[in-house]
Amino acid sequence: MLWEHLIRKELEPMVPYSPGLRASEVRERSGHDTIVKLSSNECPYGPTPTALSAMEAVLPRLNRYPDGAARALRRRLCERTGVAEPNLVIGNGSNELLRLIAQATLRPGDEVVFSWPSFIVYPMVTQMFGATAVRVPLADGEVHDLDAMRAAITDRTRIVFLCNPNNPTGTIYGADGFKRFMAEVPEHVLVVVDEAYYEYVDDPSYPRTLDYFDGERPLVVLRTFSKIYGLAGLRIGYGAFPEPLAGAIHKVREPFNINAPAQVAAYYSLADDAEVERRKVENQEQKTYLYSAFDRLRLRYVPSQTNFVYVLTDKPVEVFEALLERGVIVRDFGTAPALRVGVGTPEETHIAVTAFEAAVAKLGSL
Ligand SMILES: Cc1ncc(COP(=O)(O)O)c(C=O)c1O
Repeated sequence: MLWEHLIRKELEPMVPYSPGLRASEVRERSGHDTIVKLSSNECPYGPTPTALSAMEAVLPRLNRYPDGAARALRRRLCERTGVAEPNLVIGNGSNELLRLIAQATLRPGDEVVFSWPSFIVYPMVTQMFGATAVRVPLADGEVHDLDAMRAAITDRTRIVFLCNPNNPTGTIYGADGFKRFMAEVPEHVLVVVDEAYYEYVDDPSYPRTLDYFDGERPLVVLRTFSKIYGLAGLRIGYGAFPEPLAGAIHKVREPFNINAPAQVAAYYSLADDAEVERRKVENQEQKTYLYSAFDRLRLRYVPSQTNFVYVLTDKPVEVFEALLERGVIVRDFGTAPALRVGVGTPEETHIAVTAFEAAVAKLGSL
C-alpha cells in the first residue's frame, strides 16, 4: 500500500531494459575462453588511438567536474554538422536524449507513434511519462511504413520517433518517402529521427535529415558515439534541437551529464576519420561474408545498412542456445521469429559463421 502510494502508477506496467547476456556470464556457463558478443550492436573495436590518449590525459584531473556545457565538443560538432551552437545538445548517450525529450514534452494521454519492431527505448520513455504508445507495424515486417505512420497521427500525437536505420531490422526508409512524410506531418507533432547507425549507411537513397533542420520546425535529429566510434561504455550522443526544446532539455538534464573522458574522447574521435572509414569498409566486408554464409546455410535475413543483421528463423530459442554453446552471443526477441547478429571483427565473424554451421548441423533447417 505504501509503495503503491509512493511510486507513480505509470511505472507499474513497465519492464526494466534487459541488456542481454554479458560475455563473462557466458564464459562461465559455456566453458569457452573466447566469447564473441554480437548482441548489442557495439563496435568490435575500442576508442580510436587519439581518443584513448586524450582520455588518459584527463584521468589525473577527474577531481574536477566536467564542463557542464561541453563547449569544445559542441563547437566541433557544429563545425561538422552545420548545426548552430544553441541547437546542438549532447547527452549521456542518445538514450538519455530520448528520455529528456519525453520528459520535456509528454503529458498523460498524449500519443507517441513509432514503428514496430524498433528500438525498445521508444515505448519505455513513452510509458515513463504516462503517454500512450501507438505502434505501426513495419511494412513486410522489415521497413518503416511512413504512410501508415502518417495515418496513425491524431490530434493527441505529441511525438513520432523514426529510427533510420531501424534497429533491429537494419533497414532504411528513403529520401522520397521522408520528403513526403515531412510535407504532410501536422505542425503540432515533434518528429524525432534517431540516426544511431548513420555512419554505416551507404545506400544513396538515405535521406539527408539535417537538411530539413532549420531550428524552427519541430524536428530533432539524434546521433551517437556509441557505434562506429567505439565509445558505448562512455555514454555520449548528440542531437540537433530547435532552440525552445534545447532550452527545456537544459532545464531537466543533470548539470554535468557528460563526463570529462567522454567529452575529450568524442572530440578527438572526430579527428580520426581514416580509422572510422576503415571500420566502415571492414564492417561492409564482414557483412558481405555473413550474407554469403547465410545464403549457403539457407538462412533468411534482411539486408542491412548497419553493423548488425536481422536473421529470420522459426527456431529462435534453439538457434540462440546452439550459438551460445559455441560462445557466440546474439540478440533474441522473446517469441519473435528472429535473431539480431552483430558484425564483428573478421575473426569474430568467422567464429559466428562456424557456430551457425554447427547450429544447422544440429537443428536441421533453421
Ligand atoms: C536505434 C538506437 N538508438 C539509440 C541507441 C542508444 O545509443 P546510445 O548508446 O547513444 O545511448 C541505440 C543503441 O543501441 C539504438 O540502437
